[in-house]
Amino acid sequence: MKLLVCGGAGFIGSNFVRLRVRDHGDEVVVLDKLTYAGRLENLADVDHTFVHADIADAEKVREAMAGVDAVVNFAAETHVDRSIAEPDAFVTTHAVGTYVLLEAARERGVRYLQVSTDEVYGSIASGSFTEASPLQPSSPYSATKAGADLLVASYYETFGLETVICRGSNNYGPYQYPEKLIPLMVLNAFHGDKLPVYGDGMQVRNWLYVEDFGRGIGHVLAHGAPGEVYNVGGPDECPNIDVVKRIVALTGNDDTLIEYVTDRPGHDRRYSLGSEKVRALGCVAQVRFEEGLDATGKWYRVNTDWWESIRSGDYLEYYKRQYGTALGG
Ligand code: NAD
Ligand code: TYD
Repeated sequence: MKLLVCGGAGFIGSNFVRLRVRDHGDEVVVLDKLTYAGRLENLADVDHTFVHADIADAEKVREAMAGVDAVVNFAAETHVDRSIAEPDAFVTTHAVGTYVLLEAARERGVRYLQVSTDEVYGSIASGSFTEASPLQPSSPYSATKAGADLLVASYYETFGLETVICRGSNNYGPYQYPEKLIPLMVLNAFHGDKLPVYGDGMQVRNWLYVEDFGRGIGHVLAHGAPGEVYNVGGPDECPNIDVVKRIVALTGNDDTLIEYVTDRPGHDRRYSLGSEKVRALGCVAQVRFEEGLDATGKWYRVNTDWWESIRSGDYLEYYKRQYGTALGG
């Protein structure tokens, strides 16, 4: 297959491209704006063609879509805290960007897969979300992602474009930018820096190893029915404080590094994603949280070059703005 992968230089996108090229022999064109989160280093070991562009750039998108069998759209602003501080880019990329991609796919008659998130469903106290659960997003990130999902659905209903939506739960693994919980805590722990836990730390996330999400997306691309939504959840749920304590233990530190800080506004208490529909297609997440977290810690331990260049300059400025404190180590 020839795929156009938008946002393929980011965390999940680059892992997906590696999987498709290595295990499936796909030909891949990556289109990416290279925001702070997009990095060509993430794809240094993978054969691909690269187009440096914004998904909202109609001309470049139309050109890049020539001759492809399917488009997989990962391109997004992805950090909830940044969406609270500065929502602009979230609205533009998720609304206008998705619209431009859908128009080009419609013009060229190309199959379209939208990568989405469990956060569009909002928070759930008990039980798990199904694809029929109402969309009740809490943050500008999840609200704009939900808007993009609705636009995708409208292109199936109105124009008959062959679309599928894949909603993943919280991903972790190699190449994740250290603004997200797991890599932030791992790198801080390596440096003996404080580990900032929001609120009481009892918020629950449903952890999905990034390769499992990639396999799920590939499976839905091959076997999903047009117009449908598929949840792809991880096998394990864990309160944040337990995640952080596991990282403390993995890195040989003690719990005195943990610091409870002011909670995130509108913080969703719990996510839990039911994946029966994708399981019925023959796809099951394989990596348990304990195993994946261990592999992730080892990857960051070995790949110091990858994160040393990030953990400076703009990142330190961001950290200071977000946490009101400088990183020490
Ligand atoms: P990321 O922030 O690591 O990567 C996003 C990529 O998109 C970057 O390469 C960035 O340069 C690119 N990008 C941003 N705006 C763009 C634009 N306007 N045009 C072109 N490229 C642009 O994010 P990620 O964690 O890899 O997430 C990828 C997708 O998966 C997103 O759609 C996200 O909503 C979804 N998702 C993420 C998670 C998670 O836990 N990280 C879980 C479920 C779903
Ligand atoms: P995050 O990785 O930002 O993902 P999301 O908000 O999309 O689920 O955060 C995961 C959880 O960890 C979330 O409940 C917020 C919490 N968290 C902290 O407690 N401290 C932190 O410094 C960060 C970044 C997140």
